[in-house]
Amino acid sequence: MHTIRLIYASDAREDLRYRDFMSIMDKAADINRDRAITGILCFGGGQFLQALEGERLAVNGLYHHIANDPRHSNCQLLSVEEISTRDFAEWSMKIIDWNDAVTAARQTVLLKHSGSRVFDPAHMSGQQAGAFLRDLADMERLLSE
Ligand SMILES: Cc1cc2nc3c(=O)[nH]c(=O)nc-3n(C[C@H](O)[C@H](O)[C@H](O)COP(=O)(O)O)c2cc1C
Repeated sequence: MHTIRLIYASDAREDLRYRDFMSIMDKAADINRDRAITGILCFGGGQFLQALEGERLAVNGLYHHIANDPRHSNCQLLSVEEISTRDFAEWSMKIIDWNDAVTAARQTVLLKHSGSRVFDPAHMSGQQAGAFLRDLADMERLLSE
């Protein structure tokens, strides 16, 4: 069995509101749990940045399914790598609403990894996106302690 982490960025459909999106993701989290897929999804400035971790075939299948979802477009693969440990193992899908709290701490993490305070994942490298999501997850863990 090969475990991979896949990261992509996309543009949200313009009329998609955070509340509507959350109802999609309630179901998605159940699907992910059944398939042992874990990850994190950050939604902000009309863009998504999502990391999916799990068994290679399961992650590939899910990614192709998600990429065809009309609620977003311009899906752009940023990275796919084999991993020996998961970064987001405790979450079947952790959702972060970037616009909900653009705190100084969040902006610092973004600046550290992308060189900008504006959330624009379509212009991040795969490495930058992975490191950004890891730091963001660490912040969320601290906040929920
Ligand atoms: C940005 C985005 C991320 C998504 N992430 C997931 C996900 O992690 N897991 C999942 O099952 N569905 C996810 N979905 C929803 C799927 O595209 C799809 O609606 C869902 O798997 C249910 O499948 P169905 O619509 O064929 O019933 C996502 C959709 C969008 C727009």
